[in-house]
Amino acid sequence: MEHTWSPEQYLRFGEERGRPFADLTARIRAVDPAHVVDLGAGPGTLTALLAARWPEAQVLAVDSSPEMVARAGQVEGITAVRGDLRRWEPSAPVDVLVTNAALQWVPGHLQLLPRLVAMLAPGGWFAMQVPGNFDEPSHAIRRELAARAPYAEHLRGVDHPDAHDAGTYLGALQDLGLEVEAWETTYLHVLTGPDPVFAWVSGTGARPTLQALPETLRPGFERTFRARLRAAYPETEHGVVLPFRRVFAVGRRPC
Ligand SMILES: C[S@@+](CC[C@H](N)C(=O)[O-])C[C@H]1O[C@@H](n2cnc3c(N)ncnc32)[C@H](O)[C@@H]1O
Repeated sequence: MEHTWSPEQYLRFGEERGRPFADLTARIRAVDPAHVVDLGAGPGTLTALLAARWPEAQVLAVDSSPEMVARAGQVEGITAVRGDLRRWEPSAPVDVLVTNAALQWVPGHLQLLPRLVAMLAPGGWFAMQVPGNFDEPSHAIRRELAARAPYAEHLRGVDHPDAHDAGTYLGALQDLGLEVEAWETTYLHVLTGPDPVFAWVSGTGARPTLQALPETLRPGFERTFRARLRAAYPETEHGVVLPFRRVFAVGRRPC
């Protein structure tokens, strides 16, 4: 089953989700790019930062979710189009190609890198960021519950995000001829509100799982999931701390 995205739910933690995008794109040193593309751009709010930085550029937000593209279409300064990043082709060589928090949704995405890098103009920049937190309780608890009866039979083959370490992207992009830097950062997000880690994961990584469950089973799954997440991420007097490791790589194609 294809899952759907909710721009509103995703944007609830817009501040926290925006931070890695800023850290990623700060390392792109393009001066005057003509064609800028954001692949898996989501609601387009972060893509708009690229348009603000390079006001002369044509800035394109590409996403496969109709809900996200509809939302990005309302953002000034960018053009939003529906497209699958596994197949999408640019109409001209790309000067800056960004893909932030999207490649983890594409199984086998290392195989896509040659095609993405081939889109770059000489001197063009490629910048990617993926989560590196798949062993954290926020994912481990979901996996464990999903493997149990009575849920397992409904959740086989359901989409789930996955990614590699920084060294893997560094090597893969270097082998494609880019000058690359790669790094990782663990953010300590301090979240507030009821069950904030559940709210976070149900906007992203756990979304396909929750949507694939029948109505009769979803409430029970959610109840146990929420309780286990509360135990794993206890409330402090300042809120709930969600450690979130992210992996970054930025490369430049030589002129
Ligand atoms: C976690 S959101 C990230 C959105 C945005 N880049 C950001 O940083 O806020 C992941 C986005 O990737 C998109 N996506 C997932 N698989 C895709 C694919 N194969 N082609 C295009 N977009 C895809 C989803 O629709 C979703 O909008």
